[in-house]
Amino acid sequence: MTRRVRVALGERSYDVVVGRGAINELGSLVPGDVRRIAIVTQAHLAIDLATQLPQGVTVSRHLVGDGEAHKTLATIERLTEEFAAAGLTRNDLVIGVGGGMVTDLAGFAAASWHRGVRVVHVATTLVGMIDAAIGGKTGVNLSVGKNLVGAFWQPSGVVCDTAYLDTLPAREQRCGNGEMAKYHFLTGDDLLALDLAARIARCVEIKAEIVGLDERESGRRAVLNYGHTLGHALEIASNFSLAHGESVAVGMMFAACVARALGRVDDARVAKHRAVIVDHYGLSIAMPAGVRRARLIELMHQDKKAIDGLTFVLDGVHGIETVRGVTTAALDAAFDALLVT
Ligand code: GLY
Repeated sequence: MTRRVRVALGERSYDVVVGRGAINELGSLVPGDVRRIAIVTQAHLAIDLATQLPQGVTVSRHLVGDGEAHKTLATIERLTEEFAAAGLTRNDLVIGVGGGMVTDLAGFAAASWHRGVRVVHVATTLVGMIDAAIGGKTGVNLSVGKNLVGAFWQPSGVVCDTAYLDTLPAREQRCGNGEMAKYHFLTGDDLLALDLAARIARCVEIKAEIVGLDERESGRRAVLNYGHTLGHALEIASNFSLAHGESVAVGMMFAACVARALGRVDDARVAKHRAVIVDHYGLSIAMPAGVRRARLIELMHQDKKAIDGLTFVLDGVHGIETVRGVTTAALDAAFDALLVT
């Protein structure tokens, strides 16, 4: 059985179909007037959508490589050159099939091609299903930071078929748990108490509600970046040896320590972070070997949230919220607590 979660954004609203066999509903998300479909995916995924797509539509396949090194403007240029060769018109459709890296690329290519064509995402990883494919953030990395070039471009629909998670590597599972622990802190929900499909649907609901209130992150949506300020810096400083969800886990622990240093939370709340992240969701809060605080601070200054000095998303008496102008002393106290020199 599948369930549908609505992302309510007025004329840009769409359904996220969740559950085993959700892929069989892909056809219902494809607009009726589409004549060509460009599928952006990866070779190793080998997902055949032929029986799910409307008959008579011309389908082309466009591959992207594995790993963050491919999440670049050069890949967008190549994909859109391929769209041109495939004759993709303004009225056609891109389908992104893969994890967050693929759907971020497919979404940005769709947002850019002819200044915007429709896109549907088929998420194949836990991170993709509960976060990356939902909410319309698309983009690529620059050498100085993650996701610095991109567009808000909502999909016309998203498929989260839990069958794709049957063979999900343990590391990908951990990355999903990192984002899930984030939702746990945002809502207090114990997501592991739910079965897999219900857990994914609940995460989508939480995200959909926040995105519905603040689509373009002019305020509340920033809480979805809990743990990401240090998290993104760690990904880059570790040369991506620490994956996104793993970095977010460390980043949330760090954020709890920063909040403690600023007097926003007490020791018990810091201990609660450790218990939720490490004991409950099975994640590590160890910093990768060789990262230095000076480099992390430099990278955090390039964060997209940084408008006025260092900006963090922090816990506090009013819950999790954006805090501007975080002091160096608070960062040093947090780095000391996590033994980063
Ligand atoms: N992953 C954070 C957001 O979509 O806003």
